[in-house]
Amino acid sequence: MNSQEFEQICEFVRQSSGIVLSRAKEYLVESRLKPIALQHGFADVSALARGLAHAPQAVKLAVTDAMTTNETFFFRDKTPFKLFEEIILPDMVAARRAQGRLRIWCAAASTGQEPYSIAMLLKKNARLWAGMNVEIVATDLSASAIARAKEGKYTQFEVQRGLPVELLVAHFRQEGTHWIISDEIKRMVKFSQLNLLESYASIGVFDVVYCRNVLIYFDGPTKSAVLSSVRRAMRDDGYLVLGAADTVIGSAGEFVRASARGLYQPVEAKRAPVARSA
Ligand SMILES: C[S@@+](CC[C@H](N)C(=O)[O-])C[C@H]1O[C@@H](n2cnc3c(N)ncnc32)[C@H](O)[C@@H]1O
Repeated sequence: MNSQEFEQICEFVRQSSGIVLSRAKEYLVESRLKPIALQHGFADVSALARGLAHAPQAVKLAVTDAMTTNETFFFRDKTPFKLFEEIILPDMVAARRAQGRLRIWCAAASTGQEPYSIAMLLKKNARLWAGMNVEIVATDLSASAIARAKEGKYTQFEVQRGLPVELLVAHFRQEGTHWIISDEIKRMVKFSQLNLLESYASIGVFDVVYCRNVLIYFDGPTKSAVLSSVRRAMRDDGYLVLGAADTVIGSAGEFVRASARGLYQPVEAKRAPVARSA
């Protein structure tokens, strides 16, 4: 693949997903797109790059999907989940008790470990929100990641990464070399495909948004536009949780840091978050 062909792929991926690929990703592009090129009748990745603009939608979707990085694991980074139990859930339950409804969105849910971690914490703290309807919506651009998330089937390696053994025993059953999440936890999460660059109208408005480890793939203007769209999909007193390497720096100023690192609220949030000890 020559540099012009590589640029054609980078530009296509940036426009379709916001993901910025550096020169250092040339090998990754080649290795991930080769099977797609061959499967769809292109001689190689160079031919795919040249034909991409006029390729069928299925080819374009496959190329975008292949260039996503779906790295994730249960209770990744621990703190975002500690914050959920200690601040976000108690505060939001108190604020929404009268309405009886609480909506949580995992905006780049990958293969499901993040929303399922939240679902397990909700189950653990079920008494707190008894009588309320708590919904978890989990979306991702990658159709293949969402298909895996819906299946709720994980390898031994995946359940060994971050999932406490008592939660493994409580919420999974073993099937051969894999672990299947219980129907009860699965039913708590609604998965669908959604591109953060497009309209969020289909999913409604949320009290809590987890948007972790996805903004890092975008350039400044895209990150800022996505944060503005996320803000419009949130209630004024809601919470936004970002990844350890994400910040709101460079955004349009819709969010302020809340009481903990990685935790943000819309600037309109009036009440100070109520921290509860574990
Ligand atoms: C590294 S994973 C993060 C998963 C999870 N949030 C976590 O922190 O463990 C990044 C995810 O962002 C998704 N993604 C990338 N660009 C996206 C876009 N434009 N819209 C929605 N999801 C996107 C990828 O498909 C991938 O699953």
